[in-house]
Parts: sequence; C-alpha cells; structure tokens
Amino acid sequence: MSLPPGIVYLSEQPMLSPALAVYCGKLVAEFYFGVAIPTWLATAAYVLSGPAVLTVVVQYRDHRPLVPSSPSVPGSIGGINTENLYPGEPLAIHGKNLGYTSSVRLLFQNRILTAEPENIKAILATEFNGFEKGAEFRGLMEPLLGTGVFVADGKSRFHHQMTRPLFHRERISDFDLFDHHAENAIEHFKTRLREGYPPDFQDMVSRFTMDAATQFLFNQDVHSLSAGIPYPFYVTTDTVTSASAIHPSNVFAGAFQEAQMITATRNRFGAHWPLTEPMGVVRDFLDPILREAVVKKRAAGVDPGKNEAGEREAQEGETLLDHLVNYTESTHRQIIRFPRDEILNISVAGRDTTASLLTFTIYMLAEHPNVLSKLRSENLRIVGPMRRPTHDDFRELKYLRAVLNETSRLYAPVTPFATIVMHRRTDLWGPDALEFDPDRFLDQRLHKHLTPNPFIFLPFNPGPRICLGQQFAYHEASFFMVRLLQTFSTIELAPEA
Ligand code: HEM
Repeated sequence: MSLPPGIVYLSEQPMLSPALAVYCGKLVAEFYFGVAIPTWLATAAYVLSGPAVLTVVVQYRDHRPLVPSSPSVPGSIGGINTENLYPGEPLAIHGKNLGYTSSVRLLFQNRILTAEPENIKAILATEFNGFEKGAEFRGLMEPLLGTGVFVADGKSRFHHQMTRPLFHRERISDFDLFDHHAENAIEHFKTRLREGYPPDFQDMVSRFTMDAATQFLFNQDVHSLSAGIPYPFYVTTDTVTSASAIHPSNVFAGAFQEAQMITATRNRFGAHWPLTEPMGVVRDFLDPILREAVVKKRAAGVDPGKNEAGEREAQEGETLLDHLVNYTESTHRQIIRFPRDEILNISVAGRDTTASLLTFTIYMLAEHPNVLSKLRSENLRIVGPMRRPTHDDFRELKYLRAVLNETSRLYAPVTPFATIVMHRRTDLWGPDALEFDPDRFLDQRLHKHLTPNPFIFLPFNPGPRICLGQQFAYHEASFFMVRLLQTFSTIELAPEA
C-alpha cells in the first residue's frame, strides 16, 4: 500500500518529519489506547522532536564505527588517529563494493559523493562554472573565513586573481624565511630530546609553518616557536602547563585551532553554531597589524594601479598584507575586514596543510626505514651534510619530491574524502595502491597510471581554484626535510607519548 503523496511530501521535510511522527504517535495513543495526551505535553514534543532527532543523528554519526572489523595500524604520532584505520580507508572499502559515485542521504539531505576522476575533472575544471561551493558552505564558513578566497564563489575569481601576484617564483623562493624558522624549530626539537622526552613533531611543524606563513603574509611572524614545543602529556608540572597556556602565541594559535574545530563541528550540526569567542581572540591579535598596514598605505599615498591583465602587480618589498590593503579602497570598516578575511583564509590554507604533509611524511619515514635511508643518501649526495639547499637542489632532489607526492597521495591534507579514496583506488594506481612506495612517482608505474590520466592525483586541486600556495608548500616542505635529514639519521615513533 502506498502512502498518500501529501504524507510522503511532509515526511521528506527535515524539520517536519519528527513532528509528524509525534503527531501519529499521539493519534495512536489516543484512539487505540485511550490515553489523553495533555496539550502542553504534545506541544513540547512537537517543538523538541526536531532538535532531539538531530542530536541523536549527530551523536550517532560521531560515534559509530565506520567499518566494524578493520585491520589495525599500529603506532601513533601526535594528533593522528591511527587506532583502527588509515583516514579515508572506510570510504575506499565502501567504494570498491558499491561504486565510486554514490548518493547518500545524510541528515535528511541527499549528497552525491564521487571519487571518479572524470567527474572531479568536470566539477573542478572543465565544467567549473556549473558548480559552486554554494550558500550552505558560505553560511558554515562565514564566521571563520568571512568573504575570503576559500569561501568566495563567482566566475570572476577576483580573490584568486588578486592574490596570485604574491606567489610569483621570486617571492616564494625566499629561503631565508624558511631557514630561520626551520633552524629554530629543530633547535627546540633537540632541546626536548636532550631532556629525555620524545618531542611532538606535529606540534613543532605546525609552529614552523605558522611562523613562516605569518612572516610571508605580513612580515611579522607570530613567534609561535618561542613558546617552545609541549612536553608529553605525562609531564604535568604546574609551571610547565600554566606558562605554556598563557604564552601569547599559544593563546592565538589555540583560538585559531578552536575556531577551526568549531567550524568542523558546524558542518555536522548545520550553520547555527556561534563562533564568537575564539574569533574575538584571533581578531584582537590581527587587527592591530592590519591597522598598521592601513596607516602605512595612507602615508605612502600613490596607488600604482593595475596592469593590462587587470592585476595589481606586487611592489618591491610589499607583503601580501600590504598588497591586500592597497587593493582595498573602501570605507574604514571594510579596509580592516577585507584584508583580515583574506589573511585568515591564507593562514588557514598555509599552516595546517604543510604541517599535515610534513607530519605524515615523518610518520611514513618512521614506518619505512628503507625509504628514510634512500632519502638521506640522496640528500647527502646532492646537498651534503651542512649546506643550505637552493632552488636548483630541489630540482635534483627527485626522490624527496616523490616522497612528498606519495605522502600527499595517501594523506591528501585538504581535499575531501572523495579525493583520498580516488588516490587509493587499485584500479587507477595498480594493485599496490595502498602501499607507501615513493618509487611509483619515478618508475614505469608513473607512465602507466599517472601520465595518461593526470586527474587521478589532485592534492592541490585542478582548475580555477587550484592551490595558489602549491610551489610555496613544496619549497617549504622540501626545505624543512633537507634540514631535518641533515640533523637526524633515524626516526622512531613514541606511541606512549
Ligand atoms: C601541502 C600543502 C597544501 C595543500 C595540499 C594545499 C591544497 C589546496 C587545495 C586542495 C585547495 C583548493 C581548496 C578549495 O578550493 O576548496 C587550496 C587552495 C588554496 N591554497 Fe593551498 N594547499 C597547501 C598549501 C598552501 C600554502 C602553503 C598556501 C599559502 C601560503 C596555500 C594557499 C592557498 C590558497 C590562497 C588557496 C585558495 C585558492 C582559490 O580558491 O583561489 N596553500 N590549497
């Protein structure tokens, strides 16, 4: 027996379905069991049924095991959960059985997931104008990222165009920037080791990328490394924990982190989740820097204008922030808000991404000593034990690039799960797709799989939204790895920490 179309329609409305179920329950209770439900109770049940169902669904999604009996991967490194599975693995298993494009119904909405290179190519490149991130995504991200490059839709891709000049080759090849912060980070690392504690690599590289990114963006790094890297959780003397908690850069980084976590949670709860608290701390930190840049712009006076392509070229000595402030010609309110949004977007883009790449790289090297030894040999042969690497070295360090690519294939830092699944498909990458083997980017497998089908490897996205910081990230990660390999010869996981 099919239900009347009206009932079917009502049952498909997200917030009405639970209320409808309550109404049916009330009818059954009254007519079949003769129980009188008071009006106040029925009204309360109608009103609360929607949020109650939503809470149950969210809790279920948070806690359910994705795949009940999965192989376990031993070992862990700060923050990466390796307890049961590699990230993305459950979806890869799901795709193998059910196909790589599927429609799922989540929280009363149909969502289409695809790990098919042809579809991803169409969405991100060839049919780009037919797809947008959309209002829901904007609503979700707006409190964290405002109207910046990550959130903005629109065919003109104004944000991308505006920021691109700052990523020209000469600007991103300023290795002084990386050298200073890499040396500082490795020094902190050595200090913890000398004290007899295993240092938290993920924390250390997050500080390195934060300091490097902020110096690149506004020529004032946030000195997050100056707070030192944390001790393992079992060292809990009051002095250590309280000094660390109140260190200004930890307060800023903590607020930034919290805002990102809340944004991720909003994704599950829908957009109605306030972000005021951590963003207040982030703005208190950024706004004086922004104001200073505005004062500098006003003092300098003349605007150099735009070139024939409509881009405003980056000027000598100009930071990304100066560039953005120069772009802004509006009211006082916008002159702070506009560059602030953009700076926050690029900070999000530039910090955790490269930190994630470096962390997973170290994790993989700890698990694959043969790869580590090959990488160190290449490093010693091309750069040597002390010398600072150059741009030309990076072209020669082919195995290092292969290691970074292989890590990005298995652990793409930014992309949605669909890309991680695509990166692990055995029908696209060969039967050994789940193995960590950098040589696949150098030997005949490259010509067999990737060269004829480049859209199977997309850690930086293709098309108009391609990552602006791709080369910056490769330089930053390569530089750090060279310096690290010059300092340490073995890598071990310390799961107890
Ligand atoms: C391993 C490191 C990195 C990876 C894997 C990565 C990946 C990505 C991806 C997949 C996107 C597209 C996101 C989307 O459209 O939703 C993106 C965009 C972007 N990335 Fe990266 N990124 C990395 C590092 C960086 C760094 C270091 C910077 C800057 C310092 C940066 C700046 C940007 C910017 C500005 C965009 C927005 C481009 C646009 O929408 O026009 N990225 N990145």
